[in-house]
Amino acid sequence: MAWPYYRVPMAYASWGWRELAAAAAGCLRPAPQARQALCAALESLLGGSVTLWASGRAALDAAFRAIAAREPGRTAAWMPSLLCRSVAERAAAAGLRPRFYDIRPDLTPDLEQACAAMGPDSACLVAPHLYGRVAGLEQAAQRCRELGVWLIEDCAASLLLKGPNGRVSGLAGDLVILSFNTGKTLVAGGGGALIVRRPLPVAEPRRWPESGERTQALARVCFPLAWAWPSAGYTLLRDLPRRIWASLAPQSRTGLEMAAVDARIALIQWRRWPELERRRLQILAIYAAALGDLPGLRLPQYQPGVCVTRFFVEFPFNVNDRGRPRQPVRDLLHARGVQTHLPYAPLHLDPDFGPPQPGACPVTEAVASRCLALPSHPGLADGQVRYVCRVLREILCGSREWEAETPESGSAVPVIGGEE
Ligand SMILES: Cc1ncc(COP(=O)(O)O)c(C=O)c1O
Repeated sequence: MAWPYYRVPMAYASWGWRELAAAAAGCLRPAPQARQALCAALESLLGGSVTLWASGRAALDAAFRAIAAREPGRTAAWMPSLLCRSVAERAAAAGLRPRFYDIRPDLTPDLEQACAAMGPDSACLVAPHLYGRVAGLEQAAQRCRELGVWLIEDCAASLLLKGPNGRVSGLAGDLVILSFNTGKTLVAGGGGALIVRRPLPVAEPRRWPESGERTQALARVCFPLAWAWPSAGYTLLRDLPRRIWASLAPQSRTGLEMAAVDARIALIQWRRWPELERRRLQILAIYAAALGDLPGLRLPQYQPGVCVTRFFVEFPFNVNDRGRPRQPVRDLLHARGVQTHLPYAPLHLDPDFGPPQPGACPVTEAVASRCLALPSHPGLADGQVRYVCRVLREILCGSREWEAETPESGSAVPVIGGEE
């Protein structure tokens, strides 16, 4: 049976009434002091000098432009091929030349390869904690210092998450990027931050006029419509609130500061983080226990007690392949009401960033064709997670036990969910 909307959606915002009340209050009275409070909280966690921007992309734009102006003779901006396209776009827009390196099988960036490839024309190295899997950056930071290369630690997906050394991400880069957009650890609906630790003149963001602040707050009130309606099954209407949201929320507009409403919601989410992280870890543990023994299936990022923002499973075949099993596995999951996402498309194969180089980043190519992200947001009920596992088992082992089961409705953590 095909479901009108996803029975288990990806859902990206675990919002409760406090977040909604903050959005509504922002329509009446913007609270610019929330920006100072968020800056102070980030500075006390990560140090450095913090500037808040309208999005992670806007923060990246400011970072790349500052580096390009400071290093006129160096043009190469190194980044993993498996990365949000907007990172390469922003580097190119600042006059830098994106160059790509591979990832490791656990979906962390292959920084050894990047360090070996960097030369005298290298301006910066982007080291992201991909999908929230925190990588150790100490050696790369050392190599960057030796070469005079700026290390941009992209923590868009990893704010508050800890690395192998038990320390939070965001402590190693000369510059650090944060995002409060959907799919991140703290979801405000928009907003980003740039942290600078070495002297570097960075542009100041432009201020919102008060009317702009109110419009942003209204957009956040629409957020539940855009993100909750689809998962409630209102498929016919789902594009309308999304369009309203998009027209009200110019999230990627460069040069603007973070809206006060986003700073306020980010702080509320931060206070709830222990509860959100605990639930994420429980969900990952259920997946690992139920999927660990499936033949050929790999959980590339999974480590007990380690949190990630998107949870991937790797199949022993191409997920878009029609041959095995009879239909692409992604379609089979969707037909059973399980929403999934593909990884980022490999950038080294994208003609917008130079001649495609098939084979240059083999792990990226394998991950991009074999991995799918499963729903893992903190609002999922245990029954929904087990249902996903049963559907996967059925697809891979041919058992149909999942058909008899109905997932529990309701969420352990309040959630506003939907399609990206
Ligand atoms: C690794 C990475 N960096 C930067 C960004 C840009 O952040 P934003 O969506 O806030 O513009 C993203 C967006 O998903 C991302 O995944």
